Amino acid sequence: MLNSNNFDIPVITIDGPSGAGKGTIASNLSSLFGWNLLNSGYIYRSTAFLAKKNSVPISEESKVLEIVREANFEFRISSNGTKVICEEEDITDKISDEYYGSLASKIAINKKLRSELVEKQRSFIKPPGLIAEGRDMGTVIFPNAQLKVFITAGVEERANRRCNQLKEMGITVKISHLIDEILARDERDRNRLESPLVPHFDSVLIDSTCLSVGEVIGLVKNLARKRFEKIDN
Ligand code: DC
Repeated sequence: MLNSNNFDIPVITIDGPSGAGKGTIASNLSSLFGWNLLNSGYIYRSTAFLAKKNSVPISEESKVLEIVREANFEFRISSNGTKVICEEEDITDKISDEYYGSLASKIAINKKLRSELVEKQRSFIKPPGLIAEGRDMGTVIFPNAQLKVFITAGVEERANRRCNQLKEMGITVKISHLIDEILARDERDRNRLESPLVPHFDSVLIDSTCLSVGEVIGLVKNLARKRFEKIDN
């Protein structure tokens, strides 16, 4: 079993609700520091995608688990952000809409699935460091991460950010629908029994409602500089 307590390799966890900007902040920090990146939401989205592709209903636990055991995910950072490569196919655009966000949130309540994914996620710890983003990175997957951040933002601001992100990918959505979907997802992610979306007691909370991406990156960078001697970017 890989050790989540490996203090030799620095880990920063970035958790928070949908649309809080975690993905953008995490991939920017990963490029800036030259560290590895784990976007765990993409793992749940890819699982939902593969279940759908193989016509497996998400309620069929054993078949979903089989899919996860055999799947191979890879994240590549490009000038356009993170790309998800699954079984040699770039599925980033396919899994980025709210349909897969919602399906991922539904599949993510499954205890056995979450357990199956623990080691897969911990295997991302590699030198020189790791930025891990999601819902339970600080509480469950990397509880000994030296820096844990929990980013929030008001729901309308989060819906606007998601809307702009999707627009850039050529996906048009109605803000009112997006707000409803985000609220439903928040409710499910926060209230599930397994690894609910809650800040670790040790997390630094950042409300990004009135902050730019650059300002949030600046805040996390300053926190990281204080925790890790080797960071000088
Ligand atoms: O971060 P995201 O929107 O891509 O995540 C999609 C869903 O996946 C999210 O609503 C809940 C689930 N998820 C999770 O349960 N645990 C994680 N660490 C990351 C995502």
